[in-house]
Amino acid sequence: MTDALRIGVILGSTRVGRFADKPAGWLMGLAQKHTGATFDRLDLLDYPMPFFDQPKSPFREPSKDEAAQRWAKKLGELDGFIFVTGEYNHSVPAVLKNALDHVYAEFNRKPATFVGYGNAGGARAIEQLRLMLVELQVAPLRNAVHVSREQFMGMLLEGKTFADFPLLAQGAEAMIKELLWWAEALRAARLRIEQR
Ligand SMILES: Cc1cc2nc3c(=O)[nH]c(=O)nc-3n(C[C@H](O)[C@H](O)[C@H](O)COP(=O)(O)O)c2cc1C
Repeated sequence: MTDALRIGVILGSTRVGRFADKPAGWLMGLAQKHTGATFDRLDLLDYPMPFFDQPKSPFREPSKDEAAQRWAKKLGELDGFIFVTGEYNHSVPAVLKNALDHVYAEFNRKPATFVGYGNAGGARAIEQLRLMLVELQVAPLRNAVHVSREQFMGMLLEGKTFADFPLLAQGAEAMIKELLWWAEALRAARLRIEQR
């Protein structure tokens, strides 16, 4: 298989003035160096799904909502995911949970990694996200980037940028490398099994 892997960078917040754009932009910049893959920025603002209101779970039947169908189609084209998320009440923003609830098969047997930010580096949100993703048959990886409170506040209030924290880029590089390994391995397995 020589086609470039396709990775989705999913922004977990749609809040006015969200911080999410900063880590997502930074990550997209780092990701461009990886020639074996393309990275799509997926903004939930482009997929304005209602709170899940369908008669059946997407496990049983695809959502009939137009935005959810576009979202599902997009996810289906991808081989892996990087979730960029803040922490809302020790979990992920509701808009991200809702976006997960609207789909099923398009996530299956694909790996995911994470960039989190907040008082505890987004760790509690990421841990919860890992648990949710297991139910969607996503393989959540160990690697993640945690933007600590000090780093987060430095960027929010003191004009600092990701360039001021080179260890974050080091972590992101390791995370992307691991994600691409899993994305390639699972894509090969999906294709092999589909051919049987
Ligand atoms: C409803 C709400 C709940 C929050 N709860 C937490 C929290 O539990 N832990 C935390 O570290 N930060 C919390 N915060 C602060 C967020 O981490 C911070 O606002 C961050 O910028 C949110 O990401 P966003 O700007 O990309 O939406 C909360 C913010 C909001 C709006």
